[in-house]
Amino acid sequence: STVTILSVPFDRGATRRGAGQGPNAIFGSGLKRKLDTLGIPYRVEELAAPPEMKDEAHNPQLKHVQEVLSINELLAARVYALAETGVFPLVLGGDHSIAIGTLAGLTRHHRNLGVIWLDAHSDLNTPDTTPSGNIHGMSLAVSLGKGDTRLTSIGGAKSPIKPENVVLIGSRSLDQGERDLIRQEGITCFTMQDIDRLGMFRVMEEAIRITSAGTDGVHLSFDIDSVDPKIAPGTGTPVQGGLSYREAHLAMEMLSESGIVTSAEFVENNPLLDRGQTTSRLLVGLIASMLGESIL
Ligand code: ARG
Ligand code: MN
Ligand code: MN
Ligand code: MN
Repeated sequence: STVTILSVPFDRGATRRGAGQGPNAIFGSGLKRKLDTLGIPYRVEELAAPPEMKDEAHNPQLKHVQEVLSINELLAARVYALAETGVFPLVLGGDHSIAIGTLAGLTRHHRNLGVIWLDAHSDLNTPDTTPSGNIHGMSLAVSLGKGDTRLTSIGGAKSPIKPENVVLIGSRSLDQGERDLIRQEGITCFTMQDIDRLGMFRVMEEAIRITSAGTDGVHLSFDIDSVDPKIAPGTGTPVQGGLSYREAHLAMEMLSESGIVTSAEFVENNPLLDRGQTTSRLLVGLIASMLGESIL
């Protein structure tokens, strides 16, 4: 099927600016050339970032909520339209708050979507539990129907993601409210310790089994901070002890082979914090693996 790349130059869901330049950096590192080489048909669309607004009713538990609402309404509508026409939406961020719009659009099309969330974090905070007020730390909670109602109602009538269809992978920095939510909702969480003990191969086999069982689509939400900051330094909230280069690629290769993935997003690439193009180039390789590039 053909791919539509949606570039989302937005970074007001995070404290550190720069992820808004993430999509351009990925193009600058050769994404289009790579897709041409692989023979994958694609189109590119760029969403316009909302103008920066004065935060009228500044809420320290929900920073820049107006801008987050506005970009995600736009994104939800585009992703929904693309999913309806049967193309593969490939969203390039941008900070992880844009998962709110991606998932809102997808859940209007899919009745029972599986989600693979590769991330150092779980992004399961709500305005009541957030330590930072940054909405990129709340996007998965919003997609499960929890948190500010303006955020949970983005994209109009839709069914929230079901917790039993979500698998977290690579977790190593969880806030207390997030741990509580994971337990309470019974969300499957493969922490870095699980990856150490079981190996990435078994973790991915389980993740593929769980997210494809009884679902009508699987979305990959890939936060580049899942990868170890020694290999992927260009990101705003780095956490030591992350995935190796091969673990990240193996995950993408297994997802490609499984054929279950119906949409994907790659977020939190911040070229202002990168070492040259290290992180952007890594992302081009990971996207290629996810779309079917194989070693042999
Ligand atoms: N848990 C922290 C917070 O809520 C960090 C979240 C980082 N999220 C991300 N998408 N990089 O602020
Ligand atoms: Mn479909
Ligand atoms: Mn994240
Ligand atoms: Mn993260």
